[in-house]
Amino acid sequence: MFAVAIDGPAGAGKSSVAKAAAKELGFVYVDTGAIYRTIALYVLRQGVDPHDAAGVEALLPQIQVGMEYTEQGQKMLLNGEDVTGLIRTPEVSMATSACSAIPAVRAYLLQLQRDLAEKNNVLMDGRDIGTVVLPHAQLKIFLTASPEERARRRVGQLEEAGQKADYQSILRDIVQRDYQDSHRETAPLRPAEDSVLLDTTGNVFEQSVAQLVALVREKL
Ligand code: DC
Repeated sequence: MFAVAIDGPAGAGKSSVAKAAAKELGFVYVDTGAIYRTIALYVLRQGVDPHDAAGVEALLPQIQVGMEYTEQGQKMLLNGEDVTGLIRTPEVSMATSACSAIPAVRAYLLQLQRDLAEKNNVLMDGRDIGTVVLPHAQLKIFLTASPEERARRRVGQLEEAGQKADYQSILRDIVQRDYQDSHRETAPLRPAEDSVLLDTTGNVFEQSVAQLVALVREKL
């Protein structure tokens, strides 16, 4: 099997670029953020505080996370229920950020992620894929863009959806989230030593996809 680990900060376009590249390559695209989000949804539903490490850990044995790969992409199952459409709300995002900092949660999800890479050619996207989950991946990519570029893209997305967007406050949030993600104690966001930097600042989407596909093909 061939594994591509893709890490990088939020808002760099990892998931959309990796998804398109996976389609072109015939690989399975694994969105690990969605797995963490599914755990967080269960925690919220049980009324447990996502910052309560012991409380969250006690829930883990009750959670069965399932994934199905369809034409539409990765479907997330929580104890058999399709929750794909429920895990992208701001409330779940906040809870996921807290849950994903809990070592027991990360340990619980480690094998699930490794099993996926054992059975499929994968492009796996997350924060610690090259450093922790798949340290032997044949290719490791650190996909990023400048905070200003990520803020501009986010403003564009919001405006396209007819929502108001304030560039300065979005930029501030991005800078703060980058700091939190790269300074947490467990599996902080950092490029693996043997990773290739893919900086998409100034790229249009198709360029980033083409660059990623080319990097994979070089190694195949
Ligand atoms: O990529 P995303 O926005 O769906 O990630 C949601 C949250 O989960 C984010 O706070 C980072 C965290 N996460 C993580 O800690 N490790 C991963 N492999 C994937 C996501």
